[in-house]
Amino acid sequence: MSDKRKVVIDCDPGIDDCFALMLCIKHLDVVGIVAVGGNTGLAYTEKNARYMTELTGRPDIPVYAGYDMPMMNKLVRATEVHGSGGLGTVSIEEPKKKLEEQHGVDYLIDVFMNRDDVSLITLGPLTNVAQAILKEPRLKERIPEILCMGGSAFVGNTTPTAEFNIYVDPEAAKIVFESGIPIRLVGLNVTRQNRMSYDDVDRLKAMGNPVADFAAKILSFTAGMDGRTSLCDACAVSWLVDPNIITKSAKVHVDVETRGEFTRGMTVCDWREYMGKNPKEDISHEKQFENPASVPNVDVALEFDEQRFRKVLFDTIASYGE
Ligand code: BDR
Ligand code: CA
Repeated sequence: MSDKRKVVIDCDPGIDDCFALMLCIKHLDVVGIVAVGGNTGLAYTEKNARYMTELTGRPDIPVYAGYDMPMMNKLVRATEVHGSGGLGTVSIEEPKKKLEEQHGVDYLIDVFMNRDDVSLITLGPLTNVAQAILKEPRLKERIPEILCMGGSAFVGNTTPTAEFNIYVDPEAAKIVFESGIPIRLVGLNVTRQNRMSYDDVDRLKAMGNPVADFAAKILSFTAGMDGRTSLCDACAVSWLVDPNIITKSAKVHVDVETRGEFTRGMTVCDWREYMGKNPKEDISHEKQFENPASVPNVDVALEFDEQRFRKVLFDTIASYGE
């Protein structure tokens, strides 16, 4: 029996999702993968997830398809960042590995209602998770923790205030954030501290194994955009792979804005307890005040050891050749 941490991953691969899967499949015990529509359509994200299990030598990991479309929002994709098929300019053959027949939402319900030893990672819009909670509300007590790449403690990427995963389906995110399930949030404030460039593409190419070759190809697409890119989803999962990569976090109350004209999809973090006493500081990393009216529901990542992350990432990808 593996003593690795057991996880189910809900994701929308997606270039950075693929890097996250490389890390998770090597370091964690991935019990199942559920695909959601997000960066591109579900027909691609589920196929890409199946491809990743084969590429990493783990076609035994079951892959399920969940929802393609957000609960209420108009459809938003990120194909300009990930390519129309989600893998930059790489097009893949239909994998031999088959998609599971069970709907991804029913799988989430089954796995968390029947097992006590699994936690959830989300790397895409929260549509599947919210739908699962609506269908089986007891999940609120059954999912021990969600590690979520989404939102931001400060600025957005899709709008000035909203990060893509939350912006795509704010109603779903609100359901999840209000569920009472403990959430660890790795938002853009941390993930944008990661900078990947063409030098990193060359480093991957030089490794000479199939996972690294694929990683180089998909990274070259985003690295080419403005000479740098951030592997947001890989940064997020690194918190579980090596807890020392996230060097500071704070427990605060986080709400998801669903109605604001300029702020729809924003993760509104209540930092009042952390307001610096010196007004030049936006946020103090130690508590400065007590605010009993604000009940923490999220552990928000604040500081990140980028060098350590890069070492773990490159060592992991190189290890696929061993
Ligand atoms: C997030 O949005 C997607 O484009 C990425 O895959 C990542 O999950 C970053 O904002
Ligand atoms: Ca993603």
